[in-house]
Amino acid sequence: MKPYRISQIEATSSTNDDVKAAAEKNEAEGLVVWALKQTAGRGRHGRVWESPEGNLYCSALLRPKTDASEIGLYSFVVANAMYDTVRQCLPIADISLKWPNDVLVEGQKIGGILLEVADGALIIGVGLNVLHHPEDGLYPSTSLRAAGAEPKPLNEIIDMLLLNLWHWYGVMKKDGFSLVREFWLKHAATGLLKVRLPQGQIEGDFAGLDENGRLKLHLADGSERAIATGDVFFRTET
Ligand code: BTN
Repeated sequence: MKPYRISQIEATSSTNDDVKAAAEKNEAEGLVVWALKQTAGRGRHGRVWESPEGNLYCSALLRPKTDASEIGLYSFVVANAMYDTVRQCLPIADISLKWPNDVLVEGQKIGGILLEVADGALIIGVGLNVLHHPEDGLYPSTSLRAAGAEPKPLNEIIDMLLLNLWHWYGVMKKDGFSLVREFWLKHAATGLLKVRLPQGQIEGDFAGLDENGRLKLHLADGSERAIATGDVFFRTET
């Protein structure tokens, strides 16, 4: 039996809002809302997530028994599941993971993850560019179609994604963050990165991921810095 229950709808404002409302009514873990399009899709930091028909938009309800301070680590659980899903669709592409949770194909963003918390529940929103991608977003982006994937129906892609998500959720529950972190690091986008922080921009070489999920950077002055939140760009971007 599948560990999740999909509620498929034609259109909604945001699947994250639908799952949040269900969580507030005590819905059990495993609910997934999948919409064919969203009219007010949201990205990280309150940005708009364009949501035309043809891409995948879904949100899952998890109730991990974890400390509130560790909830952010679940973004790497989801990023790993996205990696596996994109790999199943694009067996020989260059796929990488950019901190904190972007999945890139040939260096271009192919989807996004929005984690939110409501009443102690974790809402995992995933948008995957299947047929369309924005031309003028914050980051260069692509889609499965643009990257040359064999066409697959959305119901197959969502099942792959959710099975991968529950696989990595199981790893996290059983072994904690270490194996999740190991896999993420193995596929991480490295090199010189620019990070936009509330107090300005810094540049540094990727130096890993710490046990708390923070991005480690080597700065030009030889110091090391751990970043908890920010937008990350490659040196050639922006
Ligand atoms: C990002 O900024 O990269 C995160 C984008 C997350 C988009 C998904 S689409 C399904 C779910 N519903 C939303 O409104 N947002 C997330």
